[in-house]
Amino acid sequence: MIWPVVCSLLVIFIIYCIKASIRPRDFPPGPPCLAFLGSLPYLDVRNLSKSFSKLQERHGDVFSVFIGSTPVVVLNGWKTIKEAFERPEFSGRPGNFSGTFFQKGKTGITTTEGKHWSSQRNFLIDYLENISRSGSQGFQDIMMDEVTDLKLDLTKKLSEPIAVSYKLNVCIINILWNLCCGRRLHAQQQEFQTVYECVDKITQFMSRAAIFSFLPILTKVLPESVTKIEKGRYYRNRFHEISEKWIREHRQEYRGNRTGDLQDLYLEKVNKGEDNFTEQGLAAMIREIFVIGSESVSVMLRWSLRILSCHPEVQEKVQEELDRVCGRGVDVTWDKSDQLPYTMAIVKEVQRFADIAPTGLMHKTVCDATLQGYHLPANTLIMANFTSCHQSTEFWKHPEKFHPEHFLENGKLIENKEGFMPYGLGTRICPGMKLADMELFLILSNILSSYQLVMVEGDDGDLGTQFEGGTAVLRNPKPYRVVFENRS
Ligand SMILES: *[C@@H]1O[C@H](CO)[C@@H](O)[C@H](O)[C@H]1NC(C)=O
Ligand SMILES: *[C@@H]1O[C@H](CO)[C@@H](O)[C@H](O)[C@H]1NC(C)=O
Ligand SMILES: *[C@@H]1O[C@H](CO)[C@@H](O)[C@H](O)[C@H]1NC(C)=O
Ligand SMILES: *[C@@H]1O[C@H](CO)[C@@H](O)[C@H](O)[C@H]1NC(C)=O
Ligand SMILES: *[C@@H]1O[C@H](CO)[C@@H](O)[C@H](O)[C@H]1NC(C)=O
Ligand SMILES: *[C@@H]1O[C@H](CO)[C@@H](O)[C@H](O)[C@H]1NC(C)=O
Repeated sequence: MIWPVVCSLLVIFIIYCIKASIRPRDFPPGPPCLAFLGSLPYLDVRNLSKSFSKLQERHGDVFSVFIGSTPVVVLNGWKTIKEAFERPEFSGRPGNFSGTFFQKGKTGITTTEGKHWSSQRNFLIDYLENISRSGSQGFQDIMMDEVTDLKLDLTKKLSEPIAVSYKLNVCIINILWNLCCGRRLHAQQQEFQTVYECVDKITQFMSRAAIFSFLPILTKVLPESVTKIEKGRYYRNRFHEISEKWIREHRQEYRGNRTGDLQDLYLEKVNKGEDNFTEQGLAAMIREIFVIGSESVSVMLRWSLRILSCHPEVQEKVQEELDRVCGRGVDVTWDKSDQLPYTMAIVKEVQRFADIAPTGLMHKTVCDATLQGYHLPANTLIMANFTSCHQSTEFWKHPEKFHPEHFLENGKLIENKEGFMPYGLGTRICPGMKLADMELFLILSNILSSYQLVMVEGDDGDLGTQFEGGTAVLRNPKPYRVVFENRS
């Protein structure tokens, strides 16, 4: 009696396995796909970069891999990525674990789609555009205050090797705090410490948790010591409480005398009952600004100071330009950026060279779409390989070198260079890009105007990443220390 049942189950299982291993019609090629595991056995998980690069050689600019039973289409090369990401069909965003876990649902900008996404995104873009437009001095003054504080902090430790991450984070978080709450805190204060810790832990957690979006079963079978979900949940809940508290306080304190900061403008829309504007939505936006806006700029600055300390000849050229245009040790402001092409080229070349988000965040097709003859059904996950553009000899003379001249032509800055997309591109391009550029420019130029960055003795000048070939979302430099010297 038992054998017929076992046999038919076996047959069903085998049919299932075979079905699972067949790619959909006209789907991009790639390594074989097995039931349950997908293409994982065919990838070197410890060196994904190597595996992907092999796949690209074999299958071309568009290929697919299966992670579990979920297909991911990988796009390489500037033309392919541009073609896809500029079309609205590719503007979706998968949000099964990391993003929705952090926000407790699909809210905010990064994980949402459709009407909700566009209304929130347009609001933020509009607001950031307003405050960063030249002529609006307010925000630049706020940034300059923070930069001045950062410099004071650095002055205390001149001529000795220091680690810069914490100091940079303090500066950046205070800028964001001003942006969101119209006030600043001191690094010693309890609330600052709490927010700093939340942002730090949440970023670490989300980078580790990316895999759970594909294999949610892992969250059930792996122990807490590996997944750290409870810990992630703790910091997430804490940050939720804080962001909601900020909004309550804001409503109370500023009744009647609005200052026109981000919360005021958003709350105005909430009060008017506009679609998709709620207090929860505001809290979600603020959390996103903190988590995404602080870590990315901070990583970029860590790269900048590292790279510049290893390239004294580049520092010399920037400093010559800053001295000539602004004067030595004089505050450098954003409106001077037009006259400082070399300094601007440094900012851009750091973004290219450091390539901090090699694959950005994944997109998803929102409906059936075709790309280069392949058919992609709705809800297919799409991953772009920005490294393939930032490291291509097609666009860069010396892709493997730090070479600011990549962005200069006859002494002028090249805007909108092809193959350059540090903030992604198309419909989901980072809304904070202008702000981030301003932060990088102001912090770097003002540091270089006053200090010389010197490598610690015995340092080999290695510009490698912390997790070579790893899967972290952001590419970090190896931990380092640097010496600040007063410019004589
Ligand atoms: C991206 O492209 C680079 C260079 O072509 C390659 O080394 C890397 O493995 C690729 N990464 C992914 C995720 O496809
Ligand atoms: C990954 O593979 C590349 C290319 O073979 C190699 O250069 C790199 O060192 C490897 N990384 C690790 C962590 O093994
Ligand atoms: C931006 O400025 C314009 C014109 O000054 C104003 O109408 C708009 O409400 C502002 N938007 C935001 C979000 O600040
Ligand atoms: C995410 O969830 C949706 C529905 O809840 C499901 O259709 C989709 O396959 C999931 N995606 C991943 C990557 O798990
Ligand atoms: C706003 O008004 C309240 C009460 O009138 C006052 O206590 C508070 O200091 C004012 N805030 C600003 C920023 O002017
Ligand atoms: C956003 O507004 C649209 C149109 O009013 C509505 O259909 C949708 O449910 C709203 N989304 C959210 C998340 O509130």
